[in-house]
Amino acid sequence: MATCLVTGAGSGIGAALAARLAERGDELWLLARDAGRAAQLRERYAGARTLVGDLADPGRLSWAFGHQTVPSRVDALIHVAGVVELGPVAETSVATWQQQLDVNAVGPAELTRLMLPALRAARGHVVFVNSGAGLRVSPEWGSYAASKFAVRAIADALREEERDTGVRVTTVYPGRTATPMQEKVHRQEGADYDPTRWIAPESVATTILAALDLPRDAVVSELTVRPGS
Ligand SMILES: NC(=O)c1ccc[n+]([C@@H]2O[C@H](COP(=O)([O-])OP(=O)(O)OC[C@H]3O[C@@H](n4cnc5c(N)ncnc54)[C@H](OP(=O)(O)O)[C@@H]3O)[C@@H](O)[C@H]2O)c1
Repeated sequence: MATCLVTGAGSGIGAALAARLAERGDELWLLARDAGRAAQLRERYAGARTLVGDLADPGRLSWAFGHQTVPSRVDALIHVAGVVELGPVAETSVATWQQQLDVNAVGPAELTRLMLPALRAARGHVVFVNSGAGLRVSPEWGSYAASKFAVRAIADALREEERDTGVRVTTVYPGRTATPMQEKVHRQEGADYDPTRWIAPESVATTILAALDLPRDAVVSELTVRPGS
């Protein structure tokens, strides 16, 4: 039984992953941005423990964890939480830049930093759910892509820095996945939303599990997942 800390378990890919981890009996720690959401997660995943911390306010995570019980060993820290806001650079406000950079990159970096002793104790695994937008940028995707390019850099640096501690690092780059986030993207693009055209969140969860379950002699450093046909 592994101890897994998952962000974004309330929706989409994170919810699909948490359900699979719970099903197989792993010990779940779930990060929620506030106490109300944490209570909902505990109700949804019996036996799960929660941590309250808002990724949009990375500077307060350390203080918040100082007032809660945190896991002493973490086998897997899986960063799934994220936000998206489309729009041209010409019209993107500082608040919009800041929110995506904080939730998608600075928050995960700080959460990783705070959990590193527990990860090192377990020779654990850090998984970052990135995006196709972390590899290439299209018009109107600048601020989201910037946050995903940033988290790609964080993962690549961490992988090399932690090589001798036994902490493994994987980045998963999903294409469009049928979740509430993708529904929002369609609304912002002015397009009709047909979830059957896109990857099921369960398939992204399967991909993450494949990386986590690989024996220690190998590590998947990067995985790209595209919609099938
Ligand atoms: N859907 C896609 O097409 C797609 C494609 C490529 C990559 N991705 C990436 O996959 C990841 C999961 O996306 P999804 O589609 O499953 O999104 P989703 O359904 O919108 O779920 C996002 C999750 O992130 C959490 N979250 C947002 N802001 C947070 C904050 N400030 N603090 C803590 N948690 C916060 C949300 O919690 P609340 O319940 O509190 O809102 C929610 O559980 C994201 O990193 C996204 O960028 C998605």
